Amino acid sequence: MNHFELRDGELHCEDVPLARIAEAVGTPVYVYSSATLERHFTVLRDALTGAGVRDPLIAYAVKANPNIAVIRTLARLGAGADVVSEGEVRRALAAGVPPERIVFSGVGKTEGEIAFALKAGVAEINVESEPELDLVNRVAQDLGVRAEIAIRVNPDVGAGGHDKISTGKADSKFGVSFSEAERLYAKASNLAGVRPVGVACHIGSQITDLAPMEEAFVKMRGLVQRLQSEGLRVERLDLGGGLGVPYFNQPEPPSPGDYAAMIARATSGLDVGLAFEPGRMIAANAGVLLSRVVHVHQRPDRRFLVLDAAMNDLLRPAMYDAYHDIRPVNPRGGEAQAYDVVGPVCETGDTFTRDRKLPPLARGDLVAFMTAGAYGAAMSSEYNSRPLVPEVLVKGGEFAVVRPRPSYDDMLARETPAPWL
Ligand code: LLP
Repeated sequence: MNHFELRDGELHCEDVPLARIAEAVGTPVYVYSSATLERHFTVLRDALTGAGVRDPLIAYAVKANPNIAVIRTLARLGAGADVVSEGEVRRALAAGVPPERIVFSGVGKTEGEIAFALKAGVAEINVESEPELDLVNRVAQDLGVRAEIAIRVNPDVGAGGHDKISTGKADSKFGVSFSEAERLYAKASNLAGVRPVGVACHIGSQITDLAPMEEAFVKMRGLVQRLQSEGLRVERLDLGGGLGVPYFNQPEPPSPGDYAAMIARATSGLDVGLAFEPGRMIAANAGVLLSRVVHVHQRPDRRFLVLDAAMNDLLRPAMYDAYHDIRPVNPRGGEAQAYDVVGPVCETGDTFTRDRKLPPLARGDLVAFMTAGAYGAAMSSEYNSRPLVPEVLVKGGEFAVVRPRPSYDDMLARETPAPWL
């Protein structure tokens, strides 16, 4: 459920007409709903606790939508943060996430990033390989601390909405095998700079089938039990993120209730704290990308809807052939027509969709790309020297610009001249 709906023939975000935001801030612009972010977080937490999961750590995957206002909205409800770079650690801290709720994942954390995270006091570093274990051990000893770590396992289970976002197969770069995890866990428990506290996995994103998740999690339970039977202490099991959301062209995702029931089944009998790293299921349906029609360009065989948003603002269609529902903000009656919806960027990949049936649209009309709150603004760029897309957060009848659109002067001023030019 989300809080974008038609009221009096106009698409609103909560109590604010989207047209009012477009007027005030210009387009393209991302618009997020606080109520939807809050709802998704509480629905997940309530489902998990309802299924008997005690005090889960829900570490919001910051990469999905790293805007500080978004993170802060969730942190106020008790969310932690799953981060993958020093920049994300800094964002989580700036948003008020307590360090003891921050989990640091990622295959290539640098020495500097590890040191920064340890000084900040993050709860756990998810170690993805033996060289990384050795590095964390050394950096922690140099700082005179003992790093709490989890070993990230690659459960060799394929899942996810697209090859580029499937992370759990043995040939992907993430994590180590089960046997390697056992060896590294034992090794880590003898190192002076680390204290192994758990194991972690994340098998992919936009997963709409619970079966591969359950298969992976049951394997993780087996690993925890083997480690414990070897006399090793395991306190935490981090099951990652990955739960899919409805994009309209994909299978319906499981309900939070079904997900939670599966978690309870897969982890039954374990006495460990559970952690989760949801990104998309919290943020995707809490945001839209609002754009204005620049032209309707009719060719004999095709009709192009040329928007002022482009692939640099929303990369997912170009990168993953992703489908985003497109809705007129002020729908008029009339028979639906097929449009190729494109942006102004100079490559054919800047096509959001082809032959999409939409109600009649004209120059100046506003459209909203739905389900764009996750991996939308997060992946935006200034390609073609288009200023970075701004972001707006709505709460009830209020809205605030939480990332302003840079001016052209701001954009140019970031560069410095070469002395010989
Ligand atoms: N934890 C780890 C270690 C991850 O790598 C990810 C996502 C998550 C959690 C959050 O997964 P989620 O709950 O959002 O599925 N840019 C792509 C998605 C990439 C996902 C990368 N990792 C897209 O637009 O579909």
